[in-house]
Amino acid sequence: MALIQYLTPVHFEFGAIRFLGAELDRLGIRNPMLVTDPGIVRSGLLGTIAAHLPPIDSSRIFDSTPENPTQAAVAAAAALFREQGCDGIVAVGGGSPIDLAKGAALMATHDGPLEQFAAAEGGIARITQAVAPVIAVPTTAGTGAEVGRAAVIVMDDGRKMAVISPHLIPRSAICDPELTLTLPARLTAGTGMDAIAHCIETFLAPAENPPAEAIAMDGLARGVAHIAQACADGGDRNARWQMMMAALEGGLTFQKGLGAVHAMSHPLGALRGVTVHHGTANSILLPAVLRFNAAGAERKYGRMRIILGLPEGADLAQFFLDLGRRLGLPTDLRSIGVPWEAIPALADAAAKDFSARTNPRPAAAADYRLLLEEAYG
Ligand SMILES: [Fe+2]
Repeated sequence: MALIQYLTPVHFEFGAIRFLGAELDRLGIRNPMLVTDPGIVRSGLLGTIAAHLPPIDSSRIFDSTPENPTQAAVAAAAALFREQGCDGIVAVGGGSPIDLAKGAALMATHDGPLEQFAAAEGGIARITQAVAPVIAVPTTAGTGAEVGRAAVIVMDDGRKMAVISPHLIPRSAICDPELTLTLPARLTAGTGMDAIAHCIETFLAPAENPPAEAIAMDGLARGVAHIAQACADGGDRNARWQMMMAALEGGLTFQKGLGAVHAMSHPLGALRGVTVHHGTANSILLPAVLRFNAAGAERKYGRMRIILGLPEGADLAQFFLDLGRRLGLPTDLRSIGVPWEAIPALADAAAKDFSARTNPRPAAAADYRLLLEEAYG
């Protein structure tokens, strides 16, 4: 596969939120719906953003995005969009509100249940350009959802599925590092490790796409160089800018596909009874996957060592384990409350996950079981 595609207009700078009104005009959005989550409402950031929107009453604000967006929440947001006669969405927050907004923009304009649009169900062909326009305003530096073509949603039946289409790419991304200055250290670490995992997994994915690989390696270098400082001093503007750029770059490379880390973190995010933070799960899983993928990836591992300034033959799995530890992130699945008994079902779901298809080393459910056991601690 050699599809190389970069399309999204991105405003990237401190204060970029001032372009929101102009972007709404450019896209012809007169009656926007705002999609966000309770954390953003509590943070007070909504006031900063609303100042750049036409007057918007609370009936057009969907602020109950769950930590892992669900089919029911997508349906509720799509219903609100239709009821209010909206013509576009401004999504504000981390990956969850942005993914939920993509799902709502799809369901407000397409008939049929959401799961029929999931990539695993052959849904890509059913998604048309009728998808309502979304402007993404990320407030974390990690998911890359602002330029990604996927929305990852927990379906009513418990499966966490990716809905993927170029039509789901936000029509505009406003990346304003100012909006990340108050992000707590733990979330800075978790979301930052998500960005780093995107850069690594997309780099290792087998598709031929040298531009994406170059972007992934630039994002990896920035992310690893600045994540600790962004956590230690949230007000460090340079570190915040660098982390937001690393996240954007990770998102730009999604087109190559992800790998085993995300194949496992998706079903972990769908677990009932325990809320697993996506980026934190990726940080935990990364060392085991790097060990698993090492055979056959010598050239790319060598390039990563050079990018990271590590000596020849250095243990990349150990490097990322140490990094997670240094950031104060949990380093095993046990400590984040994942029940041991869940592993067989998680392994089956991982093997069927869309991201499993682009892992550089083919992995079956039995392999995923071993990886999850290794990461369990
Ligand atoms: Fe991710």
